[in-house]
Amino acid sequence: MEKRKLLYLNAHGTDALPGLGMLKEQWDIHAATNLDQARQLIEHSDFNVGLAWLEEKESKLSACEDVFLCGKQMAWVALLERPSLQRSSLRRLIHQIFFDYHTLPADLDRLTLSLGHAYGMAALRTSTLPSEGQQGEYEMVGVSPLMRELFKSIRKMASVDAPVLIQGESGTGKELAAAAIHERSRRAKGPFVVVNCGALPGGLIQSELFGYERGAFTGAQRRKIGRIEAAHGGTLFLDEIGDLPFDMQVNLLRFLQEQTIDRVGGREPIDVDVRVIAATNKDLEKAVAEKRGFREDLYFRLNVLRLHMPALRERQDDIELLAWFFFNRFAAERSPGVKGFGRRALEAMNQHSWPGNVRELINRVRRAVVLCDKPLITPVDLGLERRQTVRRIMTLAQARDAAERAAIMGALRQADGNVSQAARQLNVSRVTLYRLVEKYRIRFENPPDGV
Ligand SMILES: Nc1ncnc2c1ncn2[C@@H]1O[C@H](COP(=O)(O)OP(=O)(O)OP(=O)(O)O)[C@@H](O)[C@H]1O
Ligand SMILES: [Mg+2]
Repeated sequence: MEKRKLLYLNAHGTDALPGLGMLKEQWDIHAATNLDQARQLIEHSDFNVGLAWLEEKESKLSACEDVFLCGKQMAWVALLERPSLQRSSLRRLIHQIFFDYHTLPADLDRLTLSLGHAYGMAALRTSTLPSEGQQGEYEMVGVSPLMRELFKSIRKMASVDAPVLIQGESGTGKELAAAAIHERSRRAKGPFVVVNCGALPGGLIQSELFGYERGAFTGAQRRKIGRIEAAHGGTLFLDEIGDLPFDMQVNLLRFLQEQTIDRVGGREPIDVDVRVIAATNKDLEKAVAEKRGFREDLYFRLNVLRLHMPALRERQDDIELLAWFFFNRFAAERSPGVKGFGRRALEAMNQHSWPGNVRELINRVRRAVVLCDKPLITPVDLGLERRQTVRRIMTLAQARDAAERAAIMGALRQADGNVSQAARQLNVSRVTLYRLVEKYRIRFENPPDGV
């Protein structure tokens, strides 16, 4: 059997633990004599378990803490002299971060057992966290069928140069998708310029977008390059395009038709090579129908390729994944004892309707990791306690589907992913169960081979 890797942090040197030879029979030991070395080892190699000899005089406890937490999946076991336990800061460190501790002289049999358990716990934790490859593409997390479709569209749109119109509710990732298209396109080396059309100050829109020449108006002491020209060779992202004042729309249209701009006060039109991606959370078709809402000709110019960002509630499969992703992202802000989400927190997230989509999820998770003072995050930490959860109003058909889906997920979970067993419990055939799993796009894992 291949030996399991153990990181051994000990300021006294590698062989300072009597009986280490016995551990070496079972463990492939990598020794570090200081925190920097330990950090480097952790960053360059996967460890499930670390054994650290903590000293009473340890002055840099927060530096220690950083190292113990930088291996996200690791479980740590401490060794220390009994008097060290008098120090409350050391006690707190052990309680919050360590899987187990042993006082010296250590009983090697017990230590071996403890390291074995720590390894098992770390392996369990690793298998419940989504791995990099499962997350999605271009910084965009998502494995649901809708997101897979979206990634496919982004790839296709990146390979051509036509304008794209991105529509989707607030917080669904419109800007992220625009950046993803840019980064994958032949313009990736060029600039990606974001213009928030809703936030441009009224009288200045023209000069912001198109720039001006020196002396174009009082106060114009120097030539100013506008945002469109600044995007030359790259991509211009026109965010909140639905908020562009009606009068300005015609100027933008001219630029799109001719690929030239006029700086305010300029004599000659200037050629600019820019790809335009626009985004809105408004219903532009409706705005087109309104008088002085949105110009139809501009709408057609922008709406060549179209990307629809699905709302978070339409892609249930991604909620948990995103929650873990941001849980890890905010590791630095996390109270050290927080290990993950409790079952009720996950349930509450699955039931919430997420009107603010991914941005709302980020805010809730961030708040929870900071506020939570227990090992597992609760619905209260997320601000999703039952009383406050606004339930979506469903049609009867939707309610039946939701109940059916929940029952199937519950049975599969209870049966550890064993389909025959779950089918028996639900009193349907395996074929029916497979059909329903397909229908509701339920993802589940077959029983693991055992850790
Ligand atoms: N699939 C995703 N994976 C990871 N992060 C995401 C995903 N979708 C959105 N985000 C993050 O959510 C936040 C909101 O995304 P973004 O700003 O792109 O949304 P938006 O649709 O432009 O929102 P708004 O309409 O409010 O401007 C950002 O921090 C973004 O990085
Ligand atoms: Mg945005």
